[in-house]
Amino acid sequence: MASEAFQKVDALKEQIQSESPANHDELEQFRIAYLGSKNQIKPLFGMIGQLPNEEKKAFGQAVNEVKQLAEAKFESIKAQLDAGAEESEGTSLDLTAPGFPYRQGSRHPVTLTLNRIIDIFRRIGFDVVEDREIEDQWHNFTALNTPEDHPARDMQDTFYLKDDMEHVLRTHTSSVQARLMEHSQPPIRIIAPGRVYRNETVSARSHCQFHQVEGLYVDKDVSMADMKQTLMYFARAMYGPDVKIRLRPSYFPFTEPSAEMDVYWGLETELDHKITKGTGWLEILGCGMVDPNVLDACGIDPEVYTGYAFGMGIERQALRQYKISDIRLLFENDMRFLEQFKGTL
Ligand code: DAH
Repeated sequence: MASEAFQKVDALKEQIQSESPANHDELEQFRIAYLGSKNQIKPLFGMIGQLPNEEKKAFGQAVNEVKQLAEAKFESIKAQLDAGAEESEGTSLDLTAPGFPYRQGSRHPVTLTLNRIIDIFRRIGFDVVEDREIEDQWHNFTALNTPEDHPARDMQDTFYLKDDMEHVLRTHTSSVQARLMEHSQPPIRIIAPGRVYRNETVSARSHCQFHQVEGLYVDKDVSMADMKQTLMYFARAMYGPDVKIRLRPSYFPFTEPSAEMDVYWGLETELDHKITKGTGWLEILGCGMVDPNVLDACGIDPEVYTGYAFGMGIERQALRQYKISDIRLLFENDMRFLEQFKGTL
């Protein structure tokens, strides 16, 4: 009798151990079976009275252990299921919630303008080359026929590198002409975009850093007429077929003859007046026939070859293109300004 009762306790214990309720419904079934008012452990307690006195205590303890086992199992599985429910609530998807805004970048107006310029010259066979911004005096000045005492070399205009008066932040992209010609022979047909630096007071119209695109074409029989046609083609592609341009005689040490080119902007608004200094014309580039001294200094025979060159400012053209009134806006990285170019290619 006694051993039969103990076997029942062991069997129920094993049964409880083998249970594995996997959700709240199954856990409720577990609770009803082992902890509810008609649970399966209760009849075991009822058996105590039928046992011999000396067995009662041990049996009572064994049944109590089964009860504790059932309670502990119930609590621990309940805790697991509750935690799991919270977690899945946290990760559940609300498909009606508004999405996170996708931050769209924009190209900088200088990049936009530069890309258009590059595109226009590429179409007529100009290669794009780039070179260094820290330049030695030979490539920035001497090779370009700019004598030692020329005012452009003045500390007032040029940033010299500290502790090294030999190197400068290039003052123009014309230095790339010298870099290129010293190790290549004509035909040469390139444009060279890049950043340049001048020791200037920053204002609405000028900055101490800006961008230029240099152009150089050297071959046999290149003439001033070729240069004018190329620049005319550029102006039409950039500003439309009705654009008006004018070439004014000018002076640069590295070209002879030299000219400056203006495009007509108009004089309708206050901005037009401000940007064109009241003339309606905007100067966008310097140009000319490459001085024979420059060809010579770079190892190209001026008796055989001639060439033209030009150097244009990019910021001015960006101002014109996008009707921006102050060059400083181009360097401040103010998101409110830059975001206005979203979607512009
Ligand atoms: N380097 C000149 C400047 O920065 C612009 C220029 C003028 C470039 C005439 C040229 C040129 O290539 O032929 O003002």
